[in-house]
Amino acid sequence: MNQIKTLINGQFINTKNSLEVYNPANNELLALVPNIDDEAQINDIFKQAHNAYLKYKDSSIEDRVALLEKFASLIESNKEELATIIMNEVAKGYKDSLVEVERSVEYMRATNVEYLKLIKNPTVFDQSIHGVKNKVATYYRLPVGVVLAISPFNYPINLLISKLAPALVAGNSVVYKPSTQGAMIGIKLAELAHQAGYAPGVINCLTTDARKYGDLLVTNQYVKALSFTGGPKVGNRMAQITSKISLVLELGGKDPALVLDDADLELAANEIVKGAFSYSGQRCTAIKRVFVSSKNHDQLLTLINQKVNQLTVGLPKDNPTIVPLINNNTVKYNIDLLEDAKSKGAVWCQELKVDHSHNLLYPMVVDQVNEQMRIAWEEPFGPILPIIVYDHLDQALELINRSEYGLQASVFTSNLDNIEQLALQIESGTININRSSSRGPDILPFFGVKDSGFGIQGIVDAILSMTTIKGVVINK
Ligand code: G3H
Repeated sequence: MNQIKTLINGQFINTKNSLEVYNPANNELLALVPNIDDEAQINDIFKQAHNAYLKYKDSSIEDRVALLEKFASLIESNKEELATIIMNEVAKGYKDSLVEVERSVEYMRATNVEYLKLIKNPTVFDQSIHGVKNKVATYYRLPVGVVLAISPFNYPINLLISKLAPALVAGNSVVYKPSTQGAMIGIKLAELAHQAGYAPGVINCLTTDARKYGDLLVTNQYVKALSFTGGPKVGNRMAQITSKISLVLELGGKDPALVLDDADLELAANEIVKGAFSYSGQRCTAIKRVFVSSKNHDQLLTLINQKVNQLTVGLPKDNPTIVPLINNNTVKYNIDLLEDAKSKGAVWCQELKVDHSHNLLYPMVVDQVNEQMRIAWEEPFGPILPIIVYDHLDQALELINRSEYGLQASVFTSNLDNIEQLALQIESGTININRSSSRGPDILPFFGVKDSGFGIQGIVDAILSMTTIKGVVINK
């Protein structure tokens, strides 16, 4: 069995007990990774990370930028191997896995660029700019200490790198806990970081059972910033039990696509199908409900169904759109949502087709969904798409905003006059006009409201969230 050691304080270590990583495409055990299952050991990891930070923070900016670039280059030169690990570990299509690795390398390089801009342009207050008399106040950006990063399975490299890169370039040390389905790539990244030359303790891959130790991790005294991507239940608990740390939480969504009466329906259908079904809907920004008026309903549904019926379904190595779901529980959960909807009068537009041995759920559009159905509100993280018919725009907006989530939204229309007015009525972080929702390009701020999150990501905002300021005021 492939038993992989993880990097803690500059050493590759093993543990008595292991966590099991399965291949979702065949349910076979892929690897065993360390299960760090000891409170004192966990506390010590943070203490060592803090000690490492005390030295690393004084390294030169140029050295940190060069280290991050070296780390990025190593990821780039190992991209096929990394993509293969992603494909096996989380059943993402090989080509999409490769794109994810490349996007991560770009993210690192862009982080270097934006960090240098921030550092070279400290905020200055003086007479000429703000009328501040007899003082020149300069505010510098500094690291905060130990950053704790907790990442999900669905972007196992990209959502780790988007936390590690800003933390490292700014002079923080990092303890990160990858999702167990994602731990192989997490450890591989640690190996490459070690090879790049990060000093012991600056980067630590803490593989552990988060259900048991989650509270201990996030409340550790040395943790000064926490960046978490995962579910709202866990994220909301983190917000409750932490204090005086920088908190960035990305917690999922139920992104609506609102199709207005004057929309280009072909464009809307293309974007909706792409947004709802890529990576089998296992994206927090996937379109997870469609609102269409009775005027356009039949035509839009026909277009969506035509496209959904053509989606390719299969194993990740063949690069289909619909790939295996992350595990059998997710398959069951999606089927429960489908059955609940059908029992309350919804119409399944495709037959229910499941291949349990590969965790493959075939895509399904569910028509005539109403607010009594769980699928109208819950996040499936699977390839199922509810269609909700509205009579008046106000009714659609009310249902959209009644969701506990507010990550992103899409509005389809051919009339851009006053579109901002409508967009601003939608309670979500970002509203995409005539496009499906998505986090990228990564330079854009990315955030959710309500149960979708707290704090802001995106290249610049992530750096801001992992740094603090120090002012030097020269009195004249
Ligand atoms: O799953 C959550 C991700 O942040 C979504 O990223 O919009 O690039 O797919 P994406």
